[in-house]
Amino acid sequence: MPKKPSSPLLVEAAHLYKSYRRGGQELPVLQDISLTIREGEFLALMGPSGSGKTTLLNLIAGLDRPNQGLLRVGEVDLTRLNEAQLAAWRARTVGFIFQFYHLLPVLTAAENVELPLLLTTLSRRQRREHVELALELVGLSDRRHHYPGQLSGGQQQRVAIARALITDPALIAADEPTGDLDRASAGEILDLLCRLNGEFGKTIILVTHDPEAAARAPRLIKLIKGQLILDEENHTHSCGMTGAGPETSSPLPSS
Ligand SMILES: Nc1ncnc2c1ncn2[C@@H]1O[C@H](COP(=O)(O)OP(=O)(O)OP(=O)(O)O)[C@@H](O)[C@H]1O
Ligand SMILES: [Mg+2]
Repeated sequence: MPKKPSSPLLVEAAHLYKSYRRGGQELPVLQDISLTIREGEFLALMGPSGSGKTTLLNLIAGLDRPNQGLLRVGEVDLTRLNEAQLAAWRARTVGFIFQFYHLLPVLTAAENVELPLLLTTLSRRQRREHVELALELVGLSDRRHHYPGQLSGGQQQRVAIARALITDPALIAADEPTGDLDRASAGEILDLLCRLNGEFGKTIILVTHDPEAAARAPRLIKLIKGQLILDEENHTHSCGMTGAGPETSSPLPSS
């Protein structure tokens, strides 16, 4: 869904450079990346393997740091935060979804979803309420006591989405969330991302190799060899075609 030009900037990146040192050699990974993302945008990030997609996502999501450049998310200049501040910022601001779910196998679905809330001041009862709502949102209330090993890949990813949502983050960073799933399960995950964007106004960055997945997003950016080679609106995206449009209410009760 096209964003009103008036919605505020969430991400402002200018002239980002990132390189890694390997055996005394500097390996450039991202070169002079500039982009802005507005609140409530849903964008797909594509590019060949090794082009720097995960690296760029991790910079924006505060998991890694640029060597050079300006990087603001919300009101925060991420380059000025120390490690502890960055970790605290991440916990408040970003929900992560990974290709291989990253659920803890010894915890149930509900316990996995609850984990990020253990760092908050919510009471046990409030935490449980939030968890129930998040599991309901992803359609897994009846699996709350299952362990990850007792769930399908698609169900595990839905648990991971519930976990990513539970702190009501502004930004959802999804790194190939459908990469390990069959088409039907992938479709369910993409439907959920569309809902999070369209109904709850979440800003979403979706890294994907799958053109069908990328076609769901209203904006597409492409990296090749660490450079941004394309940034365009997708007017025929298949997300949020129904529904009343974005609103900013939280999927969870306010804490
Ligand atoms: N921690 C690291 N140390 C050294 N090199 C790294 C590190 N992380 C990434 N790289 C290198 O940076 C480049 C970009 O990696 P990145 O993971 O961002 O690519 P990608 O586009 O996400 O690829 P894929 O589609 O395979 O996930 C690669 O050449 C990779 O080897
Ligand atoms: Mg990657």
